[in-house]
Amino acid sequence: MRKLVYLFAGLMTVSQYVVAENISLSTPNTTLVLSAEKGKNLKYIYYGEALTSADIESIGYAGMYNHDAYPVYGMVGAGETALAVKHSDGNMSLDMYITDVRKEKNDGKETVVIEMKDRVYPFYVNVNYEAYDDVDVIETWTEIKHNEKKPVVLNQFSSAYLPLRRGEVWMSHLYGAWANEGRLAQEPLNPGLKMIKNKDGVRNSHTAHAEVMFSLDGKPQENNGRVIGAALCYSGNYKLRVDTDESDYHHFFAGINEENSAYTLNKGEKFETPRLALSYSNEGLSGCSRNFHRWGRNYKLANGKVERKILLNSWEGVYFDINERGMDQMMCDISSMGGELFVMDDGWFGDKYPRLSDNSSLGDWVVDRNKLPNGIESLVNDAKKHNIKFGIWIEPEMANINSELFEKNPDWIVKAAGREPVLGRGGTQVVLDLANPKVQDYIYKIVDDMMCQNPDIDYIKWDANMSIMNHGSNYITKDNQSHLYIEFHRGFEKVCQRIRDKYPTLTIQACASGGGRANYGLLPYFDEFWVSDNTDALQRVYMQWGTSYFFPAIAMASHISATPNHQTFRTIPLKYRIDVAMSGRLGMEIQPKDMTEEEKTLCRNAISEYKDIRHLVQFGDIYRLISPYDNLGVASMMYITPEKEKAVFYWWKTEHFCNQHLPRVKMEGLDPSKRYVVRELNRIDNEPLSFEGRSFSGSYLMANGLDIPYEHNVDYHKKNDYASRILYLEEVNSNN
Ligand code: GLA
Repeated sequence: MRKLVYLFAGLMTVSQYVVAENISLSTPNTTLVLSAEKGKNLKYIYYGEALTSADIESIGYAGMYNHDAYPVYGMVGAGETALAVKHSDGNMSLDMYITDVRKEKNDGKETVVIEMKDRVYPFYVNVNYEAYDDVDVIETWTEIKHNEKKPVVLNQFSSAYLPLRRGEVWMSHLYGAWANEGRLAQEPLNPGLKMIKNKDGVRNSHTAHAEVMFSLDGKPQENNGRVIGAALCYSGNYKLRVDTDESDYHHFFAGINEENSAYTLNKGEKFETPRLALSYSNEGLSGCSRNFHRWGRNYKLANGKVERKILLNSWEGVYFDINERGMDQMMCDISSMGGELFVMDDGWFGDKYPRLSDNSSLGDWVVDRNKLPNGIESLVNDAKKHNIKFGIWIEPEMANINSELFEKNPDWIVKAAGREPVLGRGGTQVVLDLANPKVQDYIYKIVDDMMCQNPDIDYIKWDANMSIMNHGSNYITKDNQSHLYIEFHRGFEKVCQRIRDKYPTLTIQACASGGGRANYGLLPYFDEFWVSDNTDALQRVYMQWGTSYFFPAIAMASHISATPNHQTFRTIPLKYRIDVAMSGRLGMEIQPKDMTEEEKTLCRNAISEYKDIRHLVQFGDIYRLISPYDNLGVASMMYITPEKEKAVFYWWKTEHFCNQHLPRVKMEGLDPSKRYVVRELNRIDNEPLSFEGRSFSGSYLMANGLDIPYEHNVDYHKKNDYASRILYLEEVNSNN
């Protein structure tokens, strides 16, 4: 009888809602509503502005569309789906109905689990939603399992589906390349399928990002309008799809890229998809960014509530030319400028095969005694002497074929059986097969041994400079070779988790040939990422702008480097390089001994000023004001404390022509009723700006902004074609 009721109910739900069964999840300012009645299909009803309970009850009558919340393949229509499988008997169809709905509240989160079963097969899907009670983010993901006699093949397994709406919706997303990461693209959604994907295997954010924002009120605006954002929390291959169908409706799907990754699921085994984090804001793109930043810092990023140290990294200063004296000199210099940490980059390791360039030694994580006769220990002690911390570079997921590791374990690399390996960086690099538990143990041990021998190491720069180039695992069975991409990342996460369990406070940077690993799948294990190998300050304005859509400044490593820049060969004055680096997690990547005393003084002052605003930059709320992508000749943004009593305003010229007129930038996010006193940071002008030390109301600054001079008032021989400003705004307290 029960079964009959379910079947009947299932047929009814094809065209009808049962409003009484609406379930909702709420964050401080948003609500998600689903229709989840036992025996029926799971339906999506609403996601957006917070609703009252009366509206939650009546919303089913508001004329919404009838969309499954997790569409499966095989029974209805030709639309895009989230899940498609081949059952053990070859049947390709799914028809899921709800068997149970569970709601739980704990740790500031509300979780809803909708349990579903196929009407015919013992095949189960749980759709999960988790809402935070202090940030406007809802995470959603699925768990798939079955009790069929033989394995079921998962051909498509998205984490989530979100019906967006009809009509004019714009998508903002990030694309790029090595040294040009995080470029912002904004486009209206048009009929057809728009796909954003990654197939690198190891790194997933160089060419595109697994995060998007949808502006629901026409052309995207930074500080107005309704925006839905989505971030897939995954470090491997992904696929985001937006299908605009014949009814002009936009359907959004996100998950692991199933291409060449069909997954054979055994009886009883659980397949859990990565989480998709959804956010909604009615304060424009910047509002949505603030939500992601807060959630990122509070819940995702390793040590997201701890201020980051100001560091010098050795890479662009000395490249592979590591030696004890050189390291000591760099430590001494960064310490004298007020820095707090020195990171020794590539080139310090290798015994039988010393690492002299990028073509050998990865895998042999023993110190090169020719370069560093007294080992890491003496460098750590040296750092102590200079009153700073010490950090070190490793690339543990990789090997070179000329390494002792590869000689001993040739079967540990990712490689197609029966073929010669395809070689990467330096013509000799290979990727280790993280699907193999022995490789996982080995990688864990690299970090563990290093930390046991040198417990005072404070920071690890964890690099990854190669893609999976030929598909094959010596560990995975022949039948399941299509699991490689997924198993690689499962292995990677397992290693990271073990490292974090033992070393929770160690700072670890995710570097992957620059910004190849900026994603929320790995940030729970990493404190920050290297935005790009490109340190050119002008191009960084564009890259950091895009990256800031989803990631907070505390996670974005941003370094002052030399001129001409080593990637673009552009010569940009130090003031501008500093002013750009100071909008992220400030560091230096330069040979300080090649700097003049005047330059060192400028950096010393900047570091000292950064210490004053560090909290504000790293934990403040972002307001983007003028986009470099709008080609108005200037880019500008701010960070403001949640209490709105302090703010820092950045202004960078992006081009320079005589008598060119730049827009006056209106500020945002201040308290209109507070008065703020303005102080310029990193001043190089001979005279202070006219508004230096003056106070203005938040309402004036937001309605009018300040007129920023287009050039610096400096002596003739110091004039150049760049100008930038950082203004610090502090509430005038009642005692002033
Ligand atoms: C990669 C990183 C760089 C540097 C080099 C070292 O390219 O992105 O920052 O660490 O490797 O070889």
